[in-house]
Amino acid sequence: MSAAMKLCFVLILLFICYVFADRKVSTDTQHSCLTNTSICGSLAHVTAVGVNDVLHYVVTTIGVPSVFVAYTSPNVKLTVDWERLLSDNHTEKANSVMLKPKAGVHYTYTLLFTKLIDYNDTKDKADMSTYDQSSTEWNVYDLSTFTWDNISAVSDIKGNSIKMQASSQYPSDLWQYNGTFSIQLSAYSSSGRESQLPHLEYSENITQFDLNIDHVWTNLSMSRFGIEMVMLGGGKDEMKVDETRSIDDEYTPGVFTIFNWLTRGGDTGFLQWKPVCYQSLERSRSEATGMKHYGIQALTDENKNILRDTLAYGYYGENFTTQMSQAANLSFGLSKDGGYNKTQVLTWSGSVGYGTPPMDTVSMLVIIIISAGLGLPAVIIIFGGIFTCIKKRNAKPDKQLKDIQSSGYQRIASDE
Ligand SMILES: *[C@@H]1O[C@H](CO)[C@@H](O)[C@H](O)[C@H]1NC(C)=O
Ligand SMILES: *[C@@H]1O[C@H](CO)[C@@H](O)[C@H](O)[C@H]1NC(C)=O
Ligand SMILES: *[C@@H]1O[C@H](CO)[C@@H](O)[C@H](O)[C@H]1NC(C)=O
Ligand SMILES: *[C@@H]1O[C@H](CO)[C@@H](O)[C@H](O)[C@H]1NC(C)=O
Ligand SMILES: *[C@@H]1O[C@H](CO)[C@@H](O)[C@H](O)[C@H]1NC(C)=O
Ligand SMILES: *[C@@H]1O[C@H](CO)[C@@H](O)[C@H](O)[C@H]1NC(C)=O
Ligand SMILES: *[C@@H]1O[C@H](CO)[C@@H](O)[C@H](O)[C@H]1NC(C)=O
Repeated sequence: MSAAMKLCFVLILLFICYVFADRKVSTDTQHSCLTNTSICGSLAHVTAVGVNDVLHYVVTTIGVPSVFVAYTSPNVKLTVDWERLLSDNHTEKANSVMLKPKAGVHYTYTLLFTKLIDYNDTKDKADMSTYDQSSTEWNVYDLSTFTWDNISAVSDIKGNSIKMQASSQYPSDLWQYNGTFSIQLSAYSSSGRESQLPHLEYSENITQFDLNIDHVWTNLSMSRFGIEMVMLGGGKDEMKVDETRSIDDEYTPGVFTIFNWLTRGGDTGFLQWKPVCYQSLERSRSEATGMKHYGIQALTDENKNILRDTLAYGYYGENFTTQMSQAANLSFGLSKDGGYNKTQVLTWSGSVGYGTPPMDTVSMLVIIIISAGLGLPAVIIIFGGIFTCIKKRNAKPDKQLKDIQSSGYQRIASDE
């Protein structure tokens, strides 16, 4: 192929991509260490570039695993002053992460994973609120104490799939089964549904994540896990968790509910999940189990201290206290599902994005099936009725009237 032909080919390909992709998604990574120290940090910056706007996802384990989401104009750039971001002096750290020009920043918020909770479900209720601190055994891990793998080394950067993973390092006893704890985000350039269960809907405005607890050690014989998350940002608007129900469970058998943790009304930042998780990495219906959430709460001082060491603090600075923030616990499992020790694996998916969270609408296939089941007989009855009426009216109007008046019923078929 000549150079000109190659160029032409590439241009045509680019044109096709441009026309058919709703957003152009790409990822770059940054990594830095403080001079003469072992203090290092890394982040992956995923951009989903549309015609008039850009969605930025900054994924990092600085502090705790977090996803900073920004909805901006196309000209906005991310700048990170690493010396300051990694500094333990909070005055230095504040505003070390910037989006410029500021006028192009329309909306920002951050989802942070703050704690991994392991409790002994002695009553097999799969409900953490059954117990207080003294009525059962708890292992509550602050995720800021975990040692996280180098993001670039464990992610598929070209595929825009970013993994935050902790394994085989500190805290050491957690990894004695050679396990891993990971959260993997995937960004998409157009709309569709994830191929694996629970087949969540995605779009160019959404990234999906899989949270995997895979052979993480526990000493509790009726162990169940939970996770604490914090949502921060978006100004002062009230946050809420919306529960939407669908009559259709064709994508996630047996699950009729979707939860949306919304950062505000209207176009909003959101975390969406279905209350289902799986007790194996290869997800199947038979490995599915339930989940529970315990509502959103104000941050504790402990939460706030954790936030001060994150990239969210690098962006908002001490102003983070004026941003709306809420924390929530979710727990995995259902009564009688065998608990964590059945397989020592739990996987769960959710999505974060900006705009209107996708809703499960009744699909065309189901509409056709319902129509065929209910609609067709109705159509036959209605048209059959109309047809008979017209036929009778044309034929014997007097006889018809007499029939109705005498019996109250109209004879449908004419036997005369
Ligand atoms: C870093 O360490 C090297 C070698 O020990 C030293 O020459 C240099 O001055 C140090 N730099 C800083 C900023 O401390
Ligand atoms: C933190 O940084 C600020 C600004 O650079 C400086 O004024 C302050 O002295 C530092 N604090 C500490 C404890 O080093
Ligand atoms: C992280 O991984 C990237 C790519 O594999 C590599 O270039 C970088 O040096 C690694 N950083 C550390 C601290 O291991
Ligand atoms: C963990 O991995 C090491 C090295 O591969 C192996 O020797 C050890 O038996 C494994 N431990 C468990 C509990 O699987
Ligand atoms: C994604 O966001 C853009 C800009 O806000 C909007 O025009 C588009 O309809 C959204 N796409 C979906 C699938 O919601
Ligand atoms: C956890 O609960 C089970 C079931 O009630 C009990 O047998 C066990 O002793 C408890 N503690 C631990 C550490 O497993
Ligand atoms: C989540 O559960 C843990 C363990 O019980 C508790 O310490 C924490 O405060 C809870 N967080 C929220 C937001 O309820």
